[in-house]
Amino acid sequence: MADALVIFTPSGKRGRFALGTPVLTAARQLGVDLDSVCGGRGICSRCQITPGYGDFSKHGVRVAPDALSDWNAVEQRYKDKRGLIDGRRLGCQAQIMGDVVIDVPPESQVHRQVVRKAASARAVTMDPATRLYLVDVTEPDMHEPSGDLERLAQALRSQWQIPEITAGLDVLRKLQPTLRQGKWQVTVALHKDHRDGPHRVLDLWPGLYEGGLYGLAIDLGSTTIAAHLCDLRNGAVLHSAGVMNPQIRFGEDLMSRVSYAMMNPGGDVEMTRAVREGLDTLVAEITVDAQITAREIMEAVIVCNPVMHHLLLGIDPVELGQAPFALATSDALNLGARDLGLSALNPSARAYLLPCIAGHVGADAAAVALSESPETSDDLVLVVDVGTNAEILLGDRRQVLACSSPTGPAFEGAQISAGQRAAPGAIERLEIDPTTKEPRFRVIGCDLWSDEDGFAEATAQTGITGICGSGIIEAVAEMRMAGLLDGSGLIGSAAQTGTARCIPEGRTHAYLIHDATATGGPRITVTQGDIRAIQLAKSALYAGARLLMDEIGTDHVDRVVLAGAFGAHISPKHAMVLGMIPDAPLDQVKSAGNAAGTGARIALCSVAARAGIEATVKRIHKVETAIAPRFQEHFVAANALPHAVDSFPELSRIVTLPEVNFNAGDGEGGRRKRRRG
Ligand code: FES
Repeated sequence: MADALVIFTPSGKRGRFALGTPVLTAARQLGVDLDSVCGGRGICSRCQITPGYGDFSKHGVRVAPDALSDWNAVEQRYKDKRGLIDGRRLGCQAQIMGDVVIDVPPESQVHRQVVRKAASARAVTMDPATRLYLVDVTEPDMHEPSGDLERLAQALRSQWQIPEITAGLDVLRKLQPTLRQGKWQVTVALHKDHRDGPHRVLDLWPGLYEGGLYGLAIDLGSTTIAAHLCDLRNGAVLHSAGVMNPQIRFGEDLMSRVSYAMMNPGGDVEMTRAVREGLDTLVAEITVDAQITAREIMEAVIVCNPVMHHLLLGIDPVELGQAPFALATSDALNLGARDLGLSALNPSARAYLLPCIAGHVGADAAAVALSESPETSDDLVLVVDVGTNAEILLGDRRQVLACSSPTGPAFEGAQISAGQRAAPGAIERLEIDPTTKEPRFRVIGCDLWSDEDGFAEATAQTGITGICGSGIIEAVAEMRMAGLLDGSGLIGSAAQTGTARCIPEGRTHAYLIHDATATGGPRITVTQGDIRAIQLAKSALYAGARLLMDEIGTDHVDRVVLAGAFGAHISPKHAMVLGMIPDAPLDQVKSAGNAAGTGARIALCSVAARAGIEATVKRIHKVETAIAPRFQEHFVAANALPHAVDSFPELSRIVTLPEVNFNAGDGEGGRRKRRRG
């Protein structure tokens, strides 16, 4: 009989095969992405396919009911034991008996697309470094003496075409009992990234392993450490969690940590210990919450700024505190997770650190670049990852520039009198009526505004505890829009502003948002000190962006992407009123969520993405803010709200800022026209 035509969807790959060929074999020969861990033994169920029957005019075939071999005992056994969706077959069991159209469902594709949030069109293709393989290993033979590891290598060569393996001592110690327990059939977890070299055996189990295979995407920030637990088989995020970075006790910002290391012998070792303890806490929390064992975690991808990078690695960051800011290494690193103190993970677990861009621009910026791909943008895009340190990228297809700017922790609610982390009870949105100067706000954990019915009851549980980062930005911007704050950042008095909410505080004034002191709660105000802290932070951010714009020779950007755990919550309008970011059409200012964390997750799911970002980073042009003469100039000019010199035409289209001046030294008690800068 003639060969049968087999068409696979969604790939569209087609070919002719002899009758009796298993579907899995046909898929492999055509290069169709059909998963298999057991190599066709009918036990892993990863090769599930859905045959289509009837007329397929699009493909020009008619599929007869007997186009595949009959349902067999192996499939029935699997269905009885584990269940199989009606209409599905096991690709390794079903044989081709006639022309057929075969659909490979996403769960059966190794390189399936991991679809990201709607905010981004980008999809990541699964291409993980760690995968499972079931093999039958030849038993030892007196006449042909060879080691168990060598026979395992031989089995992987012949059954999976894996040319070479290497194994650490932990695996060697486990090898012999596992082989015997599995009656010479074992599942092996192999790790192979984009670099040359052998596959590394991470772990092995008797028979078919059906436990978990996980990875951690870790965003190691100066203030918080966040991690996503991902399933390495399908890219799904099973759990996300975060802890404060315990290094905060050595200094809130990076430079104070570097100086701690400089001033205190052994200070770097203390900080290394602290950050590793923080990671341990996070891993413990995640494994408990996700109900997995830490041993099932095979890989960690870590993104961080250069100082955190060195401290995590146990390298004294002293060189990063002084020009020329030399890194010990800027290349990506592939290490044993245990070498980083991640001792709870699988003993053979691997850790991958993305490359650093420069002495001040770290692997976190590389991760943002991986997530947002400015190098593929048709228009000029500014990406700012707002944290204790702001990572800033500017570019398009032609070139990408990067810098980092020391914003300090004000945007995260630190150094703000009523500041707090984004948690239930924190004010996250705020509006001020420009006529009455009365505020209304929303707190995390409640959908109602404070002037809506039921607000008091709805927030009785959490209370109103403080202001988080996005809340303080809105508060300051709203104060500016309502005429309570002048262009230089001074809060007016009650007499100047016409509201009793502007209360004296020492020689300056504060704006009262909420007073719960009568019931034992806090009094939440925005003080002059808070305004100054926000001004410093936003000036640093703006000056960094401006410096990159100078390098490119432009005073205009087409798009702005706000990234960072807190960047996701910033209102573009308020950010622009403050002059945090350069003027741009408001609908072109988008939030990308935690882009560094997303970049880490992409690298965890795809070795091709690792290769890609390593190549991209080599092409990114680094700009050092600390030694750029114009940085200081830009910083000072950016202190005004929104800016002393630069115009904001797009902003003026939607907002008219009151021209007020509250400088006490001007001899006027009331309002006064402010000269335009
Ligand atoms: Fe494992 Fe088919 S390949 S069940």
